[in-house]
Amino acid sequence: MSKQFDVIVIGGGPGGYIAAIRAAQLGFSVACIDEWKNDKGGPAPGGTCTNVGCIPSKALLQSSEHYEQAAHHFGDHGITLSNLKMDVATMVGRKNAVVKQNNDGILYLLKKNKVTFFHGRGAFAKAVEAGYELTVSGAAEESITGKHVIVATGSNARQLPGAAFDEDRILSNDGALRIGAVPKTLGVVGSGVIGLEMGSVWRRLGAEVTILEALPGFLGAADEGVAKEALKAFTKQGLKFEFGVKISEVKTSKKGVSVAYANAKGEAVTLDVERLIVSIGRVPNTTGLNPDAVGLKLDERGAIVVDGECRTNLPNVWAVGDVVRGPMLAHKAEEEGVAVAERIAGQHGHVNFDTIPWVIYTSPEIAWVGQTEQQLKASGRAYKAGQFPFLANGRARALGDTTGFVKFLADAKTDEILGVHIVGPFASELIAEAVVAMEFKASAEDIARICHAHPSLSEATKEAALAVDKRTLNF
Ligand code: FAD
Ligand code: NAI
Repeated sequence: MSKQFDVIVIGGGPGGYIAAIRAAQLGFSVACIDEWKNDKGGPAPGGTCTNVGCIPSKALLQSSEHYEQAAHHFGDHGITLSNLKMDVATMVGRKNAVVKQNNDGILYLLKKNKVTFFHGRGAFAKAVEAGYELTVSGAAEESITGKHVIVATGSNARQLPGAAFDEDRILSNDGALRIGAVPKTLGVVGSGVIGLEMGSVWRRLGAEVTILEALPGFLGAADEGVAKEALKAFTKQGLKFEFGVKISEVKTSKKGVSVAYANAKGEAVTLDVERLIVSIGRVPNTTGLNPDAVGLKLDERGAIVVDGECRTNLPNVWAVGDVVRGPMLAHKAEEEGVAVAERIAGQHGHVNFDTIPWVIYTSPEIAWVGQTEQQLKASGRAYKAGQFPFLANGRARALGDTTGFVKFLADAKTDEILGVHIVGPFASELIAEAVVAMEFKASAEDIARICHAHPSLSEATKEAALAVDKRTLNF
């Protein structure tokens, strides 16, 4: 007799485990199935985000930033160090420990919320009267039945045709987070979020990093002004970029990787590097899910087809996170997970896709919410812009990090904030104020009139809001 649950969640990443917890809070009996294994073969819930994504990348970004500060900027503060060394094994070990703390934390949270956790692969078996029967293949095969099923199976790195990941020379995000020694030369294909973050880590530690990008421009999703400022800063730091490339062949040898490509002028070029990170986007993952057993519809990209509320084509089957349309971000997955659990409970779960923040954790950090200036221009909406540089912010000067600015875009007539774009120190934290403001449909004037602590980076936010009305006080 198969165990019966109100809700079964397949996938224990940020979309899945959060959906499971919220459903349990709402009084349902909940199972969560996740197949990720730690290096001892035990459960490692948290998905891509915890194991090979958000968390480990931020751990390495932090370590490498400390190294960069110690190597190049401590002198400004009168601190001198001799014999500065970077022990990559310790850095990677620390990163692994941070990941494990998160895995353990999620197992604890599932237990605390009385979610039954299954370590193994979940697959649809058939539709039954009580809902859907699933098989869990792990240490032992089990069969469980759920009235509702939430699929949160995430995504995998996209491979470059003819260059399969071997995680030794040709690395996905997984291998990029496990490099055991600083490579002398590192190639990165794709100047998107992963390319910039992982390229920065290894550049800070001494690798010569070359980033090859297919598109002619840089960071098209970001506001053009922000992208321009960031590119200037990254180039100054030593990251090398080639835009408009067309890769024709990737060959590996014992020594490294050879990438043949045509550059923007159409000239044939070869890049020889010790290792190559391929970060050209991610593809939805439904491996082993057996969607055909129940007729679950996928689109041509392999994503599960859902409506605006994460309903699939099947009654009581939902899907959230990277496996469905929309930005592949952990916080988007979480919000969808919560909203679905609430909808199952008959509540009005809601995700506002217009106020999902983006953050790139490079130095300077890049963060934005809402529309870019180029999007507003294209839509023909009349807007006003205001910008304030960190150079004129006292706290940024004290920190010794004055790169970048805060930029506000507001409706020309109503002054409603339409977008906020930040490049500079702690942009990841500063953006939260803009998200709150936009959720409450605030005007730039609202932010301009709020008292911000002095000296703080957040004063640059207030000043950028003042700049919309051309009345900055400190610039
Ligand atoms: P996932 O996190 O991928 O989780 C899916 C889980 O389901 C996995 O554990 C998988 O093993 C499991 N699974 C799949 N199929 C089955 C099955 N059939 N049975 C059982 N289990 C199954 N986003 C941010 O917002 N901020 C960041 O800073 C950030 N940094 C990133 C850095 C990197 C290097 C990468 C690769 C991604 C990063 N992301 C970041 C994106 C973020 O990781 C994803 O958007 C997020 O993990 C998606 O969550 P999810 O729950 O949809 O899927
Ligand atoms: P991405 O979509 O951010 O960037 C991919 C880049 O590769 C693009 O610039 C694209 O034009 C380029 N590209 C595509 N094909 C190419 C080719 N054949 N040759 C050269 N360039 C090519 O994807 P990325 O960096 O792999 O990250 C995947 C996703 O993971 C992100 O979109 C994001 O959703 C998530 N992520 C989020 C982070 C964050 O929130 N801080 C950090 C890292 C990842």
